[in-house]
Amino acid sequence: MFRLPQLLLNATLAGLAWSQFSANQSTYTNPILSAAGADPWVIRHNDWYYMTYTTNDHVTLLRSQRLTDWDDAESRLLFTPPPGLNYSTDLWAPELHQFNGTWFVIFTADPRNDSPSPEVDMYCTYNCPALHHRMYVLEGHGTDPWNASFAYKSQLDTYDQFAIDGTYFQHSSGLYHVYSCWYTQYAAWPANLCITKLENPWTVASPFSDRQIISVPSLPWEKTPYGRVENDRLSSNEGPQQLINEQTGQQFLIYSAARSDNRNYCLGMLELAPGGNPMNPADWSKHPYPVFYQNPAESAYGVGHASFVKSPDGTEDWIVYHGMRDPTNGWSARTIRTQKFTWNRDGTPSFPKPGYGPFQTPGGQ
Ligand SMILES: *[C@@H]1O[C@H](CO)[C@@H](O)[C@H](O)[C@H]1NC(C)=O
Ligand SMILES: *[C@@H]1O[C@H](CO)[C@@H](O)[C@H](O)[C@H]1NC(C)=O
Ligand SMILES: *[C@@H]1O[C@H](CO)[C@@H](O)[C@H](O)[C@H]1NC(C)=O
Ligand SMILES: *[C@@H]1O[C@H](CO)[C@@H](O)[C@H](O)[C@H]1NC(C)=O
Repeated sequence: MFRLPQLLLNATLAGLAWSQFSANQSTYTNPILSAAGADPWVIRHNDWYYMTYTTNDHVTLLRSQRLTDWDDAESRLLFTPPPGLNYSTDLWAPELHQFNGTWFVIFTADPRNDSPSPEVDMYCTYNCPALHHRMYVLEGHGTDPWNASFAYKSQLDTYDQFAIDGTYFQHSSGLYHVYSCWYTQYAAWPANLCITKLENPWTVASPFSDRQIISVPSLPWEKTPYGRVENDRLSSNEGPQQLINEQTGQQFLIYSAARSDNRNYCLGMLELAPGGNPMNPADWSKHPYPVFYQNPAESAYGVGHASFVKSPDGTEDWIVYHGMRDPTNGWSARTIRTQKFTWNRDGTPSFPKPGYGPFQTPGGQ
């Protein structure tokens, strides 16, 4: 009979007692980072998870071998912008991607915390504090994201119009930029989802006349405050992320809807028709209801801005997102969480109710 050494046995028994109240080795609880955080983006590369999220003044990369524990993660400053430039402040929603062996970071930024003068603000229908938000790209030299040196590459052209939360959409027909946009330069909401075709990860290939709006916050749950008949002010579609069902080949864009500082923030879903053209709005269909939304029974509110990653053994799909326990505390209440998700019979993702756990840790962790 196998016998545990006494010291280990004691530790194991203590762990069992503790597990009645908290997570043990095979479980974890949310949030996965104790400090406040928003707009998480996670990628797995060579046995490491890499996370970046909104840190406002710079782009920071964390790495951990455990998807569910980032308090002890190593941290690396990737980029701090020089002052006084169009991308010096409000660095939001960075994402790390690798294309053809080269690393890129795509992020949102603005000049001088974007406070337009009255002379500019007067052009907007409402006041427009986000008027100069734009998308930018860093390029990393090196094969490993942990020691590649990242440098500013380019603005990603959005025709001198509002752009936030940009991401890459990969398709057999090429690479695309999908981002949150306004109808016109001074429209100041609603925030829609736009798509443009790229020549490479930092260069737009299509003219403004080809820019397509593939989603607007048209349904009641995409507007805010929740339930009003008409309120375009601050209604948003943002935080788009590509999600592919590898079994069926179905192509989705999961995006955040309503407003990020309150309880109603949630995830919506667009699906590209089989054989569809990403630049044709008619080839995208919107799911009529949110696919991931607040769970008041567990005080999980304002859940959104997700990214997707596999378990270490590659068999499970995980969603990494932010949410709030106290929805009255606005943006500062957001923390980063993760949960496993599965797939429905029709090939669409089946997301869980957001909560705090304890949940089983990812397979292979
Ligand atoms: C860990 O926690 C889970 C869920 O609470 C429980 O089912 C399991 O028995 C616990 N395992 C250990 C080794 O304590
Ligand atoms: C900075 O942004 C302003 C307003 O969008 C634009 O007109 C200007 O050309 C930008 N400057 C540079 C160096 O790109
Ligand atoms: C990768 O390289 C191939 C061959 O040069 C090119 O066709 C493709 O556009 C590149 N992909 C990206 C995302 O840059
Ligand atoms: C870069 O990081 C990887 C993974 O941490 C490591 O294996 C490799 O030796 C590093 N390369 C250099 C040049 O430091």
